[in-house]
Amino acid sequence: MLLSVVLTTGKRICDGIQSDNKVNSIQSLPDKTRIARSFGLAAEKYDQYAHLQRDIGDKLFAGFSAENAKDILDLGSGTGYCASKLSLENPFATVISMDLAEAMLHFAKQGRQLDQDELNQSWLCGDAEHLPFSHDSFDLVVSNLTIQWCANPHQVFKELFRVMKPGAEAWVSTFAEKTLVELKESWATIDSYRHVNNFLSCDSILQSLNAQPFSAINHFHSQEIYFYDSLGSLTGELKGIGAHNQNAGQASGLTGKTKLRKLKQDFEKKNIPGKGIPVTYDLVLLHLVK
Ligand SMILES: C[S@@+](CC[C@H](N)C(=O)[O-])C[C@H]1O[C@@H](n2cnc3c(N)ncnc32)[C@H](O)[C@@H]1O
Repeated sequence: MLLSVVLTTGKRICDGIQSDNKVNSIQSLPDKTRIARSFGLAAEKYDQYAHLQRDIGDKLFAGFSAENAKDILDLGSGTGYCASKLSLENPFATVISMDLAEAMLHFAKQGRQLDQDELNQSWLCGDAEHLPFSHDSFDLVVSNLTIQWCANPHQVFKELFRVMKPGAEAWVSTFAEKTLVELKESWATIDSYRHVNNFLSCDSILQSLNAQPFSAINHFHSQEIYFYDSLGSLTGELKGIGAHNQNAGQASGLTGKTKLRKLKQDFEKKNIPGKGIPVTYDLVLLHLVK
């Protein structure tokens, strides 16, 4: 039985991207230390706000069974929702939860320890762009809504391919460019700073993927619309899960009250009576076979 927390610290998780980027889909660079801190600070409350992440995680799980996998990786495991499901589905598998944010891993481990005695789980702090595993390690990799936080998807897919065993599968969800478009449009009426994270187009995600010799790549692209009753309910949710704007080009300092009032007015004008304010999540589900 293995029940451990393996936490690497320092340089590895703060490394920048490597310089061998051959595909033209590198986003402006978010600072990984800041990303880890934002998510870490949100760890305790994350589950209260993560309805969307749960819905999308469940969509991902509808596509596969973990029954026959021996070694499983949950990449960007957060509070451990997917890792727990995987362990329950296959108590004989070794499930590694890996995340950039140590605090997420501590929270996930604490929350699970009561019923994990017989389960083979471990928690590892690391970066999806530099996976701390040897080649051909996993039969199954699951990654729910994490890789949009990585500046260099080409590097993530290269690493994913490397650590998958021949014939292994990966099931990945991520967001593409129309995500939060309504919020972006409202901000564009106020100023030209980048207030909302940038997301790659689905084509550019696929272009990065195609650079790896996967034997099969299936993708499912859909625009999911969620309804909110105010600007505050959307921004409260984003803040609650730790999803802060990490892009370069954002305004420095606090945003003035007048701007925020105007933003609220413009955003809430989009309200559809009886439904709420529509917000797009441009969802890409990926099924990869090595
Ligand atoms: C939106 S949460 C999703 C968490 C979890 N998969 C779920 O379904 O609830 C994104 C997670 O990705 C992690 N993350 C962000 N960048 C990462 C990276 N480069 N490597 C590993 N994890 C990362 C964050 O710390 C956070 O826990």
